[in-house]
Amino acid sequence: MANNKTLMMRSGLVLGLFSLIGIGLVSLTQSVTHEKITENERLYVLKNLRELVPETLHDNDLLADPLHVVDTEAFGNAHEVTVYKAIKNQQLVAIIASTTAADGYNGSIKLLVAIRNNGELLGVRVVSHHETPGLGDAIDTNKSDWIYSFNGRSLNNPSPRLWQVKKDGGEFDQFTGATITPRAVVKAVLKTLQYYQANKKTLTSTIQQTNG
Ligand SMILES: Cc1cc2nc3c(=O)[nH]c(=O)nc-3n(C[C@H](O)[C@H](O)[C@H](O)COP(=O)(O)O)c2cc1C
Repeated sequence: MANNKTLMMRSGLVLGLFSLIGIGLVSLTQSVTHEKITENERLYVLKNLRELVPETLHDNDLLADPLHVVDTEAFGNAHEVTVYKAIKNQQLVAIIASTTAADGYNGSIKLLVAIRNNGELLGVRVVSHHETPGLGDAIDTNKSDWIYSFNGRSLNNPSPRLWQVKKDGGEFDQFTGATITPRAVVKAVLKTLQYYQANKKTLTSTIQQTNG
């Protein structure tokens, strides 16, 4: 009897130990995968920053000293926006806002929006999205050239009421069978341009403060 009890206790302990090891391994794998995704995303952001703001335009490290902004009113959602600064000869020549279009068909679309100090777009890139392959994923440069249609645009080009997809009376193409995704991106880019216009002075003064 006593032997049976000891055996059962041992089996229980061994089972418990294996469960703990299993849980530990799963958590470890999850945390390593998460770190890998974050690091991959950082490298992808860096590649796109360099593509949007060529080296000839700036003499600073684009990833150094970004601003972190949460402005629900300006951006239409509570996601944090990271503002990278491109500086040349101690002057702010462009900003690149890492912003989020929260109203994609399948959730958030992360974007980089690069704006020259004259208010013109250097370009826009999608950093991550969950849009449907063959429908909304045409926002990706691997799938179509659509995102390049923002190059050189500004708040006056086209005029504010034309900052919409064609289906809504605006100037930007939608995709066949997919209006929600491009509508979300156009809106997010417009809001970023408006944010830049409203905050240009403050952003410029952060450079002067840094220069002492
Ligand atoms: C399975 C499925 C996936 C879809 N994925 C997308 C998508 O990724 N992006 C998008 O804009 N529309 C997508 N659509 C189409 C939208 O539901 C919608 O019909 C389309 O965007 C047109 O929107 P509108 O009526 O507001 O112009 C999808 C539809 C289905 C049935």
